[in-house]
Amino acid sequence: MIKQAIIPLAGLGTRLLPLTSVFAKELLPINGKPGIEYILDECIEAGIKEIIFIISKKKKMIKNYFYNDYFYEKIIKKKKDPRIIKEYKKILKYKKMIKFVYQNKPLGTGDAVLKTKKYIKDSFFLMLLPDDLIINHNCSKSMIYTHQKYKSSVIASMSVKKKNVSRWGIFKLKKKLDRKNFLIRDVIEKPKVINAPSNKAVIGRYILPKSIFFKLAKQKPGKGGEVHITDAIQSLIYENNNFIAHNFTGKYLDCGSMEGYIKSTLEIAKS
Ligand code: G1P
Repeated sequence: MIKQAIIPLAGLGTRLLPLTSVFAKELLPINGKPGIEYILDECIEAGIKEIIFIISKKKKMIKNYFYNDYFYEKIIKKKKDPRIIKEYKKILKYKKMIKFVYQNKPLGTGDAVLKTKKYIKDSFFLMLLPDDLIINHNCSKSMIYTHQKYKSSVIASMSVKKKNVSRWGIFKLKKKLDRKNFLIRDVIEKPKVINAPSNKAVIGRYILPKSIFFKLAKQKPGKGGEVHITDAIQSLIYENNNFIAHNFTGKYLDCGSMEGYIKSTLEIAKS
């Protein structure tokens, strides 16, 4: 079973400036609820028991959000407001599950993953990228099901417009396993349109093997000078490790850009 999840949260959030000059993007409300809580709820519903947040000193606000007990206790004592009591209980529930590790330099998603090495207990773990919300269907849950069925690593996948491939990690497929799952032959981080092997994109949910840490420890920075998880996955695929592209059912919302963030609020409000 997959019991641990990791969430890289040290990103600078430049696509959401100016908001992110003073605020952690993952705490921005989407229809009245911080984006990160949607991700946490997805994890909990998928049976995850421990979640590792990779934050930075600049994103300490995220830890403070879950560690404001004194403030809540004082206010609840005075006001006895059932809404506040309910919200505080929810925060306490999240807090019990979360561990924090630090990535103080923004050296890429691969580097962020490497920071969690000593905390990962089982042979596979889940990673969720907080910019990517998937609503109406629990993507992590169906990926865990796929992992159990095929005993393999799994990545969430979605078709994108060919002209936009350079925004994503892009797969080349090897073999169809069933209606929703395909074995991956190759994956390339943000290729140019002419070099893209397909229009199948990596979306921010991954079930990764513990062996990825050995790859990441040796990994040289790739595109944009960052250490990419995609490059480590590519090395593992070249060494005959199976990775499955899982075509998820839910609706994808990109909360990492201003346009996507606004759309997410509208979509969630009507769902
Ligand atoms: C990251 C990954 C990329 C993936 C994307 C999904 O990119 O590096 O392969 O397609 O997440 O959102 P980022 O959004 O950090 O630029």
